[in-house]
Amino acid sequence: MPTFRAPRGTRDLLPPERARFLRLERIAADLTALYGFRPIETPLFEQAAVFERSVGAVTDIVEKELFRLATRREEGEEWALRPEPTAGIVRAYVQHGMQTWPQPVRLTTTGPMFRYDRPQAGRYRQFWQFDVEVLGDPGPAVDAELIELAVRFYAEAGLQAPDVFVNSIGDSECRPAYIEALARYYGDHLDHLPPLERERLGRNPLRLLDSKEPAMAELNAGAPTITERLCDGCRTHFAAVREHLDTLGIRYEVEPRLVRGLDYYTRTAFEFFPAGARGTQAALGGGGRYDRLVELLGGRPTPGIGFGLGLDRVLLALESGGGAAAAEQPILAVIVGADPTATAARLKLATDLRAAGLAVRADLATRKLGRQLEAAVRDGARFAVIVGDELAEGQVQLRDLGAASQKAVPVADLTALLRRKAAAS
Ligand code: HAM
Repeated sequence: MPTFRAPRGTRDLLPPERARFLRLERIAADLTALYGFRPIETPLFEQAAVFERSVGAVTDIVEKELFRLATRREEGEEWALRPEPTAGIVRAYVQHGMQTWPQPVRLTTTGPMFRYDRPQAGRYRQFWQFDVEVLGDPGPAVDAELIELAVRFYAEAGLQAPDVFVNSIGDSECRPAYIEALARYYGDHLDHLPPLERERLGRNPLRLLDSKEPAMAELNAGAPTITERLCDGCRTHFAAVREHLDTLGIRYEVEPRLVRGLDYYTRTAFEFFPAGARGTQAALGGGGRYDRLVELLGGRPTPGIGFGLGLDRVLLALESGGGAAAAEQPILAVIVGADPTATAARLKLATDLRAAGLAVRADLATRKLGRQLEAAVRDGARFAVIVGDELAEGQVQLRDLGAASQKAVPVADLTALLRRKAAAS
């Protein structure tokens, strides 16, 4: 028999880890509801052109990392698994005429993304993002609001306050001159450029700034910055974003070479890193403004901004900081029986208790009572309800597995009693 394994760069989320993800998803859902976001779900795959046009054809994500699906001859379309959710959400915004809804439209989604990247610690081919998008609000207040939301998410997840980096990467008025300055700078250092970077220089010089090539780090540290080249509109906008952050008491650093790896950004760009640990693979999340993207995907000009937070990396950071709390809720009670074959009585009692909202499991294996009790302890249950002959008189034994004490309880009182015990924990 061949040995089957999960594909390289992916992993199975087994019960304890899946529960930790679910906890983060719940925090995200509760927080976004509090901030007035509405959930949206788009397909896990789209026409490849949706990503090529928005993320950009000359980016790592599209050039190297896109999971392209085999073309179906009858459809003549090229599909790709989504490397990120923003492009699909904006495509949906345009397709469903959300521009006619009351603006701004605040949307959120959480789910798996796919990038054919070289797998390593914290970098997977399937990973999870918590994403929010706001369409139809030019900012600058909402820019600060989203950064505050992300910081609050990390705090509720239990992470030490992350380092927050912000920048403005300009717009179509001021960025072209900056790109020219970058092209001149890299042109003067052609001999130091790795082959891909040299080739990209002519097509998209901005992408050299966020290159993952180690050889580029030193060169990039001396590259020109956009800060002093921002046009009046972008400079005013960025100053106002910072003012709002200050009002909210958010600590951040302006990082003038932060450009992000996707082409759709304009003006505000931001990234979050574990406190004191800045590295290419370590970003906990990032986002920014994309005021041209709706237009690029066929809609009326509409400003937009959003972020994506990597849930895998949040969990890794929690583990390395010792903060990965157990997220699984053990069940309250297991229904066991003196007569191993009397499964119907155990199942019926468990069904009634669950109908009353109690988390219980019936032991339905026809094994001895001692074995059933051992399994209940292993499950971390607090109680065992022992069903025996006394059931005929409407009684069961309630065993406290921690205290190893036991007493007879009328079946009629069991729900109320267990509910009190659950509430008291
Ligand atoms: P991004 O910076 O490409 O932005 O990804 C956001 C986050 O996803 C990263 O900071 C990181 O935590 C996580 N991430 C990315 N790639 C991987 C990977 N291979 N393995 C594990 N985690 C990963 C975006 O995707 C934009 N859509 C964010 C955005 C939303 N901008 C505006 N709206």
